Amino acid sequence: MSAASPLRIGVIMNGVTGRMGTNQHLRRSILSIRRDGGLEIAGIGRILPEPVLVGRNRVKLERLSRETGVEAWTDQLDRALEDPANRIYFDAQTTPLRAAALERAVEAGRHVYCEKPAAATSAEAHRIYRMAQGRGLKHGVVQDKLWVPGVVRLRRLLRDGCLGRILSVRGEFGYWVFDGRDAPLQRPSWNYRKEEGGSIILDMFPHWRYLLDNLFGRVRSVSCLGATHVRRRWNEEGREYAVTADDSAYATFLLEGDVVAHFNSSWAVRVRRDDLFTLQVDGTRGSAVCGLNQCRVQLARSTPRVTWNPDLEPSHAWLESWFPAPGAPPASGPFRTQWELFLRHVLADEPFPWNMLEGAKGVQLAECARESWRNRSWVDIPELAPDSG
Ligand SMILES: NC(=O)c1ccc[n+]([C@@H]2O[C@H](COP(=O)([O-])OP(=O)(O)OC[C@H]3O[C@@H](n4cnc5c(N)ncnc54)[C@H](O)[C@@H]3O)[C@@H](O)[C@H]2O)c1
Repeated sequence: MSAASPLRIGVIMNGVTGRMGTNQHLRRSILSIRRDGGLEIAGIGRILPEPVLVGRNRVKLERLSRETGVEAWTDQLDRALEDPANRIYFDAQTTPLRAAALERAVEAGRHVYCEKPAAATSAEAHRIYRMAQGRGLKHGVVQDKLWVPGVVRLRRLLRDGCLGRILSVRGEFGYWVFDGRDAPLQRPSWNYRKEEGGSIILDMFPHWRYLLDNLFGRVRSVSCLGATHVRRRWNEEGREYAVTADDSAYATFLLEGDVVAHFNSSWAVRVRRDDLFTLQVDGTRGSAVCGLNQCRVQLARSTPRVTWNPDLEPSHAWLESWFPAPGAPPASGPFRTQWELFLRHVLADEPFPWNMLEGAKGVQLAECARESWRNRSWVDIPELAPDSG
């Protein structure tokens, strides 16, 4: 670390009193970087991000400020945007509010970074992409699952060709979300109201898009069946409401290279697997199953020879012929890792491919999946080019 005083960069954090804003982005990313003395960038020196807490509710902001020791807070976004020291705008508000706030930030000349989905529609996300590009501003969208330890280990196996030619991919995501009556709900109630931006398809398909595009090949088409399995829930105030958003989706994707991917996503399923999200990859030379933390592999030489005979007791303990994938876990959490990459992108112009255009592609996949569900048909995903729209 250089002994010189650090370069301070103001980061406006809008929606910071929410789950993601407080836990992942403020505490585990920005404050964690600050606790470690900042971020050292070669040729520039030590960078210290200075968060500015922004939200609608002054009581919550004041409480968060007290709890975290972050003194700068306001419920007036424009005030925060006026200060030239605040060079970065970050958004973790509920999804429908995102696009308008990002636009204000871009118009004020700020670099922008945001949670996924990048916007409520791909057209909005693409417009913000073009605006930011046109003004020479940096932009990025959270793609945290690329840096969870299990996926990092899987990427190493894929990079080294350990699994051979990839044939198919199966993602299983979900857990039981309580309805809020018999046990308190553990996700915000807006997630289950379409009119407020709720929908598991809009929430999770942006993740599936960047995982598939980055690990296996561009998603070319989708077939999706959505469902609202749990029809009534109780909100944060204990009031009953009708669920208007899908809470489950069963989707098949065709990728470049003829890889077939099938993902089940559900908030109405009980967990009987290694993790809340697992991804099985089958290739000609081996298979891997990764969760958020672990990744296990079975290579050709340890693949059991199976003989199908349901009249007999299982001949093999199937789970025992899988071995932990090698390699150390990443040094920091997934959200902090991506924040560091974004700060390097803004300050040192290092590459950052996880940008607004990629964010727009995530929303586009959700839109195509909904179209498939509505029309009961396969939908081809149009190429979202930088200058389209
Ligand atoms: N990357 C991930 O893995 C991941 C996980 C969960 C959520 N998210 C995304 O992060 C964003 C925030 O999600 P969250 O779970 O933190 O939500 P949350 O409800 O906990 O927080 C939402 C924030 O927006 C503010 N807000 C503004 N208008 C609101 C309204 N009408 N109703 C409720 N809140 C309102 C809240 O005050 C709060 O600060 C969403 O876009 C969501 O899709 C990402």
